[in-house]
Amino acid sequence: MYSKFQLGKKYLQYYFTASSGNGHGVHSPFVFDFIKKVLRDNAFYDCYPVIETARKNLLQQKREIEVEDLGAGSSVTRSAKRAVAAIAASSLKPAKYAQLLFRIVHYYKPVMILELGTSFGITTSYLASGNALANVHTIEGSKAIGALAANTFERVGIKNIRLTTGDFNHVLPMLLPAISPVNLSFIDGNHRKEPTLNYFEQLLNHSTDSSIFIFDDIHWSPEMEEAWTSIKANPAVTLTIDLFFIGIVFINPDFKTPQHFVIRF
Ligand SMILES: C[S@@+](CC[C@H](N)C(=O)[O-])C[C@H]1O[C@@H](n2cnc3c(N)ncnc32)[C@H](O)[C@@H]1O
Repeated sequence: MYSKFQLGKKYLQYYFTASSGNGHGVHSPFVFDFIKKVLRDNAFYDCYPVIETARKNLLQQKREIEVEDLGAGSSVTRSAKRAVAAIAASSLKPAKYAQLLFRIVHYYKPVMILELGTSFGITTSYLASGNALANVHTIEGSKAIGALAANTFERVGIKNIRLTTGDFNHVLPMLLPAISPVNLSFIDGNHRKEPTLNYFEQLLNHSTDSSIFIFDDIHWSPEMEEAWTSIKANPAVTLTIDLFFIGIVFINPDFKTPQHFVIRF
């Protein structure tokens, strides 16, 4: 992974070279619409404070839990016993991005959603709140973390989430045929090149023309940047939006030539 300094430098480079995000100069009606109606939607949604209260509660929990380290995820500590607050501070998507994921679901209304990497279920709760009619499946490898995610879903009062505990490698091949097709996937665990590309290939086999894929931490490490480059080059991919901390992928064949946008967010 990149050091904080390297990542900071990369972020500044992104920030000053990305499209401004006000929609001007973006010659794709689809992306223009995305920017106006989703990215820049500053409306208040009722679920925001409810889920952020659940996050705050996790950030205050000093007790330690036993955590299996299944991926390249943690940049802070790799010990088996970790404080809930420390995991919450380092692993969860910040509100800005989790709320964007909510708005993506709210706007495009995917009915089958899959998240790889539940952690404490904060982003899952946002995904599930975006469309009450959606089925949200989420996979978490660590049992103790999964148990706390189940608490989050109770606390937030969300019913349309199914949590499966286990390694993505084992769970995905069994789960995907049962929930296919998947309309939106959020890949947020095991941030390494080969596993990321492997998950993408599996997900592609269970997608539709309008499926959306969201990859976390695409600039987190050289490996993840290579994975992102490969994803963009995949013949199925017709449109990507790089927001630095997440990358969004569309495979809609209506977009004739592949287009890749970097937008400031
Ligand atoms: C970055 S956290 C997910 C954060 C969550 N999506 C959010 O924004 O609130 C990644 C999670 O993926 C889990 N994970 C990593 N590799 C995994 C694997 N191979 N199988 C199952 N879970 C895995 C970790 O235990 C960790 O809880």
